[in-house]
Amino acid sequence: MNFNRRDFVKSTSIITGGILTTPFSSEASFFNSNSDDTIKVALIGCGGRGTGAIIQALSTKQNVKLVAMADAFKDRLDGCFEQITSDDFAHLKAKIDVPADHKFTGFDAYQKAIPMADVVILTTPPGFRPIHFEAAVNAGKHIFMEKPVATDPAGIQRVLAAAEKAKAKKLNVVVGLQRRYQNSYRELMKRYQDGMIGDIVSASVWWNNDGVWTKPRVAGQTEMEYQMRNWYYFNWLCGDHITEQHIHNIDVINWAKNGYPVKARGTGGREVRKGKDTGEIFDHHIVEFEYADGTIMNSQCRHIKGTWAKVDELAVGTKGKIQFDAAKITDHKGKPLFSFDKKTKENQPYQTEHDELFAAIAKGEYKFADAENGAKSTMTSILGRMATYSGQVIEWDKAINSGIDIMPKTFAWDADMPLKPDAYGNYPVATPGKTKYFS
Ligand SMILES: NC(=O)c1ccc[n+]([C@@H]2O[C@H](COP(=O)([O-])OP(=O)(O)OC[C@H]3O[C@@H](n4cnc5c(N)ncnc54)[C@H](O)[C@@H]3O)[C@@H](O)[C@H]2O)c1
Repeated sequence: MNFNRRDFVKSTSIITGGILTTPFSSEASFFNSNSDDTIKVALIGCGGRGTGAIIQALSTKQNVKLVAMADAFKDRLDGCFEQITSDDFAHLKAKIDVPADHKFTGFDAYQKAIPMADVVILTTPPGFRPIHFEAAVNAGKHIFMEKPVATDPAGIQRVLAAAEKAKAKKLNVVVGLQRRYQNSYRELMKRYQDGMIGDIVSASVWWNNDGVWTKPRVAGQTEMEYQMRNWYYFNWLCGDHITEQHIHNIDVINWAKNGYPVKARGTGGREVRKGKDTGEIFDHHIVEFEYADGTIMNSQCRHIKGTWAKVDELAVGTKGKIQFDAAKITDHKGKPLFSFDKKTKENQPYQTEHDELFAAIAKGEYKFADAENGAKSTMTSILGRMATYSGQVIEWDKAINSGIDIMPKTFAWDADMPLKPDAYGNYPVATPGKTKYFS
């Protein structure tokens, strides 16, 4: 592959992340740093999703090479390296070139890995995303980053500011809201945009299931290490499950509405999530999100075993409705208007995210500007959390401009953590009616 990337300008445009972007030649470091067509990648956050994402990046058609890895913990980095260099992935061996001095651990690991790459993959727990995204943008790298992209309004503002910089530098940014890269969703949304169900007047979204893992406290761990290992249960790291998981469903309706709610009101709590190792997050949230035109998105997410499960989205329009998981559109009498054949036409959106990102980078195209939407859909989920935690109506403008910052002030294994357990190992939990964000 021999092309003049610097001069590459394309006239086509594509819709991504709900945003129409026109490709321009990019100014990312990739275009200056390599004499051949190798696209060098650094992985920041080598856990489950990071391992999957790097396999997907290396499985694209481009000449992608993993050159640096960073993780807070050595055992997590080693586990990932072992997995991707195992016989199961023998076909990727030539694409992995990470000597010991390109493996970094600790809180500053990202600072050492980012300069070595053209593209960075950000797959730590979301609390760190604003810091890592900002650093990658400042260094002029293309970026794949997982959702959510922050856990508090201060983090959202940081991502929005860096997103503007990324646009100015024409850095491709893909956010792992993979429904936007999934054939069925794209086809359904196209029909919505063409007017098949008229205007959306209400919507429902669900992420109800059993919940996820816990990582019990181990003797000798500092409080920082414990919270980092058991990250799902601490808001500064995870954002609560309304943010960590339910963002996917919320984002689908934001995509259709081509906008974000102006306020939220709801209820939630911890019915069964009690006892050790369950930190501070709720096990259920029910929220009415209201858009500027009065449309209501009814949202529910629940982590309770033995209850009915559903992960889906429904959009009800003036002329019909879209059931996203079933991939069909009907009128109000149930007459089919469109149905997408998932059996034969569905793709693997996690792979498509990387296929499209790396193809654009290799061609020198600027196509993906997902960060702003990633930040605003993350903010929608935080708005919901603020509504359920406080039991108050929370307005978007007030919340996003609140400056609320729940991150620790220092990142060190012996740091004095803002959130501490009591003598029994229990953490303070929000109480609707008592928890307050605004006076
Ligand atoms: N799009 C999806 O469907 C999807 C699926 C799974 C996870 N995710 C997202 O991916 C992210 C990671 O989730 P996961 O399941 O891989 O979690 P994980 O715990 O398996 O991996 C996270 C890794 O990040 C490391 N880490 C933590 N803080 C770090 C720091 N400051 N610097 C460097 N490394 C750090 C951890 O040690 C761990 O190895 C989350 O944001 C999650 O929401 C998205």
